[in-house]
Amino acid sequence: MNGHWDERYAKTEGAYGRKPTPFWVQELSRCKGHSVLLPCEGEGRNALWAAQQGWKVHAVDSSAVGMATCDRWCKAAGVEDHVQTHIEDALTFEGDPEGYDVVGLFYAHMPALLRRTFHQKAIAWLKPGGKLVLEGFSIDQLGLTSGGPKKSEMLFQMNQLKSDFNELAIEHLAPKQTHLDEGPFHQGKAEIIQLVGTAPIL
Ligand SMILES: C[S@@+](CC[C@H](N)C(=O)[O-])C[C@H]1O[C@@H](n2cnc3c(N)ncnc32)[C@H](O)[C@@H]1O
Repeated sequence: MNGHWDERYAKTEGAYGRKPTPFWVQELSRCKGHSVLLPCEGEGRNALWAAQQGWKVHAVDSSAVGMATCDRWCKAAGVEDHVQTHIEDALTFEGDPEGYDVVGLFYAHMPALLRRTFHQKAIAWLKPGGKLVLEGFSIDQLGLTSGGPKKSEMLFQMNQLKSDFNELAIEHLAPKQTHLDEGPFHQGKAEIIQLVGTAPIL
């Protein structure tokens, strides 16, 4: 049970919109393989997109309401066979022991003490040669009203992400000022960081 998020998704279907994150669309089209893991996936906007592109998707979120919306959207789009939802804490989710070709972390902000552990899990979920795609708010988002955690410790910093994901070959790690138009909770000028990295082939 996840009170805050369940309440948000129950009140507002499409809290972050139903369309995929543009960075996900761009990067997933460059990825190879068939399996995707989306931890902290909310209502499933990126899971739905990946499934529509033919990927086999595991979507994880501690919000039962979010995952129910994901199931509903995928069913309505006729891609429910491509998506397995898991109502679980991403920090304890084990996932497919074979790993995943792609792991996508979108606006998955953890408390400071758990961030590195969570990012280590994200690396462990990747198959050798698998890709990690991340987008979230940077520390410069503080004071902006377009969404995200209000606690600075939960926002991303370039040096922390570089260190957290140093086991990956980083292809892209950059801050970006953008304008979000993703449902009622991501609206307006925003400061984000995007990252793409590849797991080593052992
Ligand atoms: C800002 S929303 C982003 C949702 C989605 N990734 C998107 O971009 O539309 C953050 C999500 O992370 C989920 N979340 C936060 N901590 C979590 C945890 N430890 N395990 C699973 N889900 C978690 C929340 O339930 C919420 O749905």
